Amino acid sequence: MYPLNRNRRLRTNESIRSLVRETIISPNDFLVPLFVVEGKGVKEEIASMPNYYRYSLDLLSKEVKELWSLGLKSVLLFVKVPDNLKDNEGKEALNPDGLMQRAIKTVKTAVPEMLVMTDVALDPYSVYGHDGIIDDGIIVNDDTADFLAEMSISHAEAGADFVAPSDMMDGRILTIREALEDEGYTNTGIMSYSAKYASAFYGPFRDALDSAPVDAQNIPKDKKTYQMDPANRDEALRETEMDIDEGADIVMVKPGLCYLDIVREIRNHVEVPVAVYQVSGEYAMLKAAAEKGWLDHDAVMMEQITAIKRAGAHIIASYFAKDVVKLIS
Ligand code: PBG
Repeated sequence: MYPLNRNRRLRTNESIRSLVRETIISPNDFLVPLFVVEGKGVKEEIASMPNYYRYSLDLLSKEVKELWSLGLKSVLLFVKVPDNLKDNEGKEALNPDGLMQRAIKTVKTAVPEMLVMTDVALDPYSVYGHDGIIDDGIIVNDDTADFLAEMSISHAEAGADFVAPSDMMDGRILTIREALEDEGYTNTGIMSYSAKYASAFYGPFRDALDSAPVDAQNIPKDKKTYQMDPANRDEALRETEMDIDEGADIVMVKPGLCYLDIVREIRNHVEVPVAVYQVSGEYAMLKAAAEKGWLDHDAVMMEQITAIKRAGAHIIASYFAKDVVKLIS
């Protein structure tokens, strides 16, 4: 009781504060999303994601070497698919010599120990910008899940360590797990986007991959029939528990900051690693405010990353990974 207890004693100076600090950020916390494009010598800045780039394979190789030298040991690959290769079923995704398959090999050649996770979803390959096959205006669930299983096998064949289905179809974790087992990929892991919300924070990512749902007749304008309603919490737990039962090794909550209540709830309930995706819109907001001089970029970045870890994230997928690691090293 006061004055015997004075909480400010533990805040007197940085030495005591660092001694009692509960949440410490390190390079081990991060999964680095990377955008890959066709071409040679390409490093294109994404307009709505300042200081974030799409790389062609030669420069991807250089980038992952730099990440490794900074202590960043895991990447999450996304590809920007040329328009002429897009269709409704995403067939290009199964091309053994497709951009994703070559990107996996490029990373593994550049840095063999780098952990490679791959995005498994149709949207970058879909003419309609959706994560599922469309039939008469409906996103078809089971055919899409079967297709995602084939895509996962193709990524495993190319050398991916983990596949990361980001689509939110029902039952896709079981479908993918069984297919991987059948094909002998027993050591390929699954990081499931288990509680992925139909969020407006994905805008800059869709610019990066040119993957926004198209505005056309009989095509759903948003992803609300498969991604979750931001209003729901119990449903996030149900989705996550089902994915674990179906064989997910790692579960994920996405986006990050607006959903930290969900992160803590899930962390308290499950016993597998929990990943959080701090998404493109979160990145863009801070970059924009900092450019205007309205926020202190580095301080706010560290506060946000710390909050995500404090909420319960074991793994943070973040476009700030490199900035953070450079700052704390
Ligand atoms: C699509 C996918 C999205 C993101 C990752 N995978 C966008 C979407 O669901 O429309 C968003 C990531 C980000 O915004 O940083 N399968």
